[in-house]
Amino acid sequence: MRLTELAHALLAESLGPGAKAVDATAGNGHDTLFLARLVGPAGKVVALDIQPLAVATTRARLAEAGLGGRCDVRVADHAALARLLPEDFRGSTDGVILNLGYLPGSDHAVTTCPPATLAALRDALAALRPGGRLVCVAYTGHPGGEEEGAAVAAFAEACRAEGHTVDIRQREPGSGKPWLLAVTRAR
Ligand SMILES: C[S@@+](CC[C@H](N)C(=O)[O-])C[C@H]1O[C@@H](n2cnc3c(N)ncnc32)[C@H](O)[C@@H]1O
Repeated sequence: MRLTELAHALLAESLGPGAKAVDATAGNGHDTLFLARLVGPAGKVVALDIQPLAVATTRARLAEAGLGGRCDVRVADHAALARLLPEDFRGSTDGVILNLGYLPGSDHAVTTCPPATLAALRDALAALRPGGRLVCVAYTGHPGGEEEGAAVAAFAEACRAEGHTVDIRQREPGSGKPWLLAVTRAR
């Protein structure tokens, strides 16, 4: 199974009709579209990306699928995730995805970086309901990717120490390969 498929499968376990979901790195909108389908007409998705091009692409993808109405897609830095989320998402979010790295097919210099990623991960965890899950896919093959992966791994250890359920898949430090972290908030 590809890592993105695994990410979706792990998220699907905490999301269903009527759910509240967040895509903290909307990119080309594939993950946002997946979330929009899962939450159904009664659900809500908030999606962010720092690049206007990514937001436009995501909105277009959702519109083509007729699912734009359940999604709020904004140009924003996920470092400010807590402040950006609607009131009813705080402590009640069912699932969050952070698909790190750069926008495929665009400027590879614009990539997620440790300080903002860590802020977003902490805010995402705080926004989850008990039993809610965040999934983060870390790419380590580009400049800065290994350092970001190490920061994500340190976040994972802190989550474990706090009693949350931590699941790490396919991590091989130094391999340049992507890996996945899933954290399920303690009840
Ligand atoms: C690998 S792509 C995401 C893929 C996407 N989820 C999809 O389904 O196509 C990573 C995205 O993170 C965005 N990004 C980088 N830094 C960011 C930040 N501080 N806040 C929000 N988005 C950021 C990039 O612009 C890029 O579009």
